[in-house]
Amino acid sequence: MPRSRLRRLLLSLPLLLTACAGGGPDSSDPDTSTADGPWTQGAHLGAEAQDRGDPEEGRRLLLNGPFMTCGIPWKVWENPAFQGLVTRGFGGSADAATVPGREGRNAELPYFLNAFVAQDGAEVVNANCLLCHGGEFDGELVIGLGNATADFTSGFGNPGTGGALPPEVLATLGLDEAEEEHFTKMLTRGAIIGDETAMRTIGMNPAEMLAVILMVHHDRDTLEWSDEEVTPIVPRDRDGNAITEYKLTSDPPPWWRVHKKNALFYNGMARGDHRGTMALATSVCVDDVEQARRVDAWFRDIQAFVDSLRAPRYPRGIDADLAGRGETIFLENCAGCHGTYSPDEDEETYPNLLIPLDVIGTDPAVAEAGVVHNPELVEWYNASFYGRITEMVPDDPFPGYMPPPLDGIWATAPFLHNGSVPTIALVLDSSARPTRWRRVDLDSTNFDEDALGWPWVEVTTPQEEIVAEEERKMVYDTTYWSQSNAGHVFGDHLTPEERRAVIEYLKTL
Ligand code: HEC
Ligand code: HEC
Repeated sequence: MPRSRLRRLLLSLPLLLTACAGGGPDSSDPDTSTADGPWTQGAHLGAEAQDRGDPEEGRRLLLNGPFMTCGIPWKVWENPAFQGLVTRGFGGSADAATVPGREGRNAELPYFLNAFVAQDGAEVVNANCLLCHGGEFDGELVIGLGNATADFTSGFGNPGTGGALPPEVLATLGLDEAEEEHFTKMLTRGAIIGDETAMRTIGMNPAEMLAVILMVHHDRDTLEWSDEEVTPIVPRDRDGNAITEYKLTSDPPPWWRVHKKNALFYNGMARGDHRGTMALATSVCVDDVEQARRVDAWFRDIQAFVDSLRAPRYPRGIDADLAGRGETIFLENCAGCHGTYSPDEDEETYPNLLIPLDVIGTDPAVAEAGVVHNPELVEWYNASFYGRITEMVPDDPFPGYMPPPLDGIWATAPFLHNGSVPTIALVLDSSARPTRWRRVDLDSTNFDEDALGWPWVEVTTPQEEIVAEEERKMVYDTTYWSQSNAGHVFGDHLTPEERRAVIEYLKTL
């Protein structure tokens, strides 16, 4: 059969799924045998209105703008002695790539920092979203790609000073009153946030823990920050016992998925207009509702920019015949959950499913965080300013994970929501996944084209027993709570040849 006809035939499968997905949970079985599969147990998440601004302005704001509202004084940054300290605090390095076309001082800054004038007139520097949402592939910075090499093993924003500088040291820096206030705020909060957000491994991302700590230290109604915990939480496991080592990690997803997704985050919990959850990251600095409202106005544009992004094309060779065979296998085994793809965007389908945990079988901690482990934070969020923009709903109709759109998936190793699997070949072959592994190096040009992912080696020693810190923080150990590499067995029944073909096909997305 010619490929195009086959394609059209098979395309009708997810279209059917989408067609009957009008409102609410959709687990109805489309009346065709080809549609049989685990996707019938998924629930469709419906589209909701988004209040979008201007993507061009969004890009400008994201890369130059003052949306973080506070920061390290420029005078401090200018002092070379501090540059390494500041960039390391943000998990990056002072000689990271710059972004062409940035304005003024930003033209010279590492891509993940913005210099801006705060509302009180102080000139400051703070991280922008690319700290986590800018990554490298083949040595090139890709805006929107998750950062797989940020080092948060000392915590997010941790200045290493243990808090504010003593007044006599501060006095030597020649800062005015406003600048001093910014600096002290950054150092105090960085020390509090840093402790709670320290990750075990380079590449592990603390966004989940950052969100937790921000909610714990802000007053829900006024958004006033307190160095003391305002809403203390004791995370509980499924049996109600306290979880002692509460460390959640999730791998920053690429932004080019957002335009297809009706609900954001791996567990599809951000419903309604998506600005609210995006803006929560700015509450590192934001202390009152008035400020939050000002920031929110910018996020209309930032959201529009995020929405406008599309995946890059695979930069290396593709075996077209093999990819063609892979497409057939993909349409039979994967498209029901992950959608169908075409060079013409209007022909693509994406079913927007939420898959229950017992069907997907991957680590449940992220999906259950707001349902089992600390539901009080979902209440906090929904009652706060941010919840009025974007509702957080982690359990409707059940906790689970969304099968992500697979556009540009080859660029996004490691895989699964917790980054526990180093290559796509291993996503498709669950019994071959290593319990402990490390990347061979952190070089984005060292890429495994056959397995689609980073070259890795197995590690046998448990991570906590590795003495040398430089070695220990390279290791991903799946035996820790929230770091399991189980589940997603949907490629296990394929032959090695079939898996090779699917992998080749994924390069075309
Ligand atoms: C500390 C790292 C970090 C920072 C800073 C950060 N993010 Fe994220 N972001 C993440 C991680 C990790 C996830 C995945 C969380 C999850 O789904 O559980 C995420 C998820 C998202 C998503 C959802 C994507 C999807 O496919 O569902 C969007 C949109 C997003 N972030 C936008 C932003 C914007 C805009 C900013 C800047 C204001 C920002 N993020 C700052 C780490 C970060
Ligand atoms: C029942 C639905 C379902 C089927 C069928 C399915 N997947 Fe998935 N897939 C998911 C879900 C849900 C996730 C996210 C799981 C997580 O992160 O915990 C996922 C994740 C993935 C990922 C990792 C994405 C990332 O960003 O880390 C890849 C790659 C993938 N699937 C490929 C495939 C391929 C190829 C097939 C067919 C052989 C397939 N899937 C079949 C539901 C499905």
